[in-house]
Amino acid sequence: MNQHLRPEPVPFIDVAAQRRRLGKSIDEAVSRVLAHCQFINGPEVTQLEAALAKFSGAGHVVACASGTDALLMVLMAKGVGRGDAVFCPSFTFCATGEAVALTGATPVFVDVDEATFNMDASSLRRAIATARKAGLKPVAVIPVDLFGQSADHDAIAAVAKGEGLFVLDDAAQGFGASYKGRRLGAFGLATATSFFPAKPLGCYGDGGAIFTDDAELAQTLRSIRVHGQGFDKYDNVRLGLTARLDTMQAAILIQKLKIFEDEIAARNEVAERYARGLGNVVSVPRLAKGCTSVWAQYTIRLPKGTDRDGFAAALKAQGIPTSIYYPKSMHQQTAYRDFPVAEGGLPVSEQLSEDVISLPMHAYLDEATQERIIKAVRGALSS
Ligand SMILES: Cc1ncc(COP(=O)(O)O)c(C=O)c1O
Repeated sequence: MNQHLRPEPVPFIDVAAQRRRLGKSIDEAVSRVLAHCQFINGPEVTQLEAALAKFSGAGHVVACASGTDALLMVLMAKGVGRGDAVFCPSFTFCATGEAVALTGATPVFVDVDEATFNMDASSLRRAIATARKAGLKPVAVIPVDLFGQSADHDAIAAVAKGEGLFVLDDAAQGFGASYKGRRLGAFGLATATSFFPAKPLGCYGDGGAIFTDDAELAQTLRSIRVHGQGFDKYDNVRLGLTARLDTMQAAILIQKLKIFEDEIAARNEVAERYARGLGNVVSVPRLAKGCTSVWAQYTIRLPKGTDRDGFAAALKAQGIPTSIYYPKSMHQQTAYRDFPVAEGGLPVSEQLSEDVISLPMHAYLDEATQERIIKAVRGALSS
């Protein structure tokens, strides 16, 4: 094929565009760390925690090494383990249920709502009944703010309260979004997020954070973050992890947080343009009342009977990448298929795994490129 005729490839997430915008400030922030050499627990870690607390409204923020560690640390701090049931949506990234299984507790999978892709409170009730019948003790629920949209936190909180569960929000994809006017980070007992580079607020490696209003929990999390250390560094008082966020990543995140609001606004504009251009040919994402999104992904559902692989190949031929999040729900994956699911099964999760596909989404997607994507999607569906 003649190289000159090949359409210019579109990035799925344009980390480089953001890097260009921030270039000098990030370089200077990293240089400061290189100068003071406090690569672990440097001053930037505490500064970032304070900035994140201000941004989210949470009383305490504990930075850590990844979103997975953030989830695991809260479960460890609460003593979750064998015989306990923790409820998670099945239509999510595997880390949500993985953190539960790593503690020895049993993840019990819950179905999601067809419109928002987030945890369905009625399926949660059924899952609690399933767990009890299996002789497990229901202890916690982990709603996920999937693809950037906040979960229905009031509905989940109502079930959790009635059943005595604590809520750990998995906002790895949704940090920056809000629910009924309050930013994520302020719901349930604690919120976990990820700073993986592709996340709406990402660093240049792995990173994560936990948000909570519970001072005692925050103190325990700080201990777990460093091998369970007590006041005396060499008298460890519990089992812990090596789960610190390194100073360099904190320095980078401080700079990125400064433009995060602006980027969220840009992502919303991109989402609106997609909805206008595609709303009459595919099922576009819908925001539930009171919910906002940071659009970690822009995930559409293809019309019944569409050949999804053929659709992806047609876009690829035009230089447009797509991704499938998630081709298998957690309960369909090899490592998780023996864990219980809510009574009545998880038909929505299974259907979504068959018909969703995600389009390029980031804050720097210009109108002309987006028009190209919209045209290619419409063309692939009509051919
Ligand atoms: C919903 C969800 N939970 C947890 C995680 C885990 O985050 P990390 O990759 O930082 O461990 C991710 C990351 O992709 C995620 O999407």
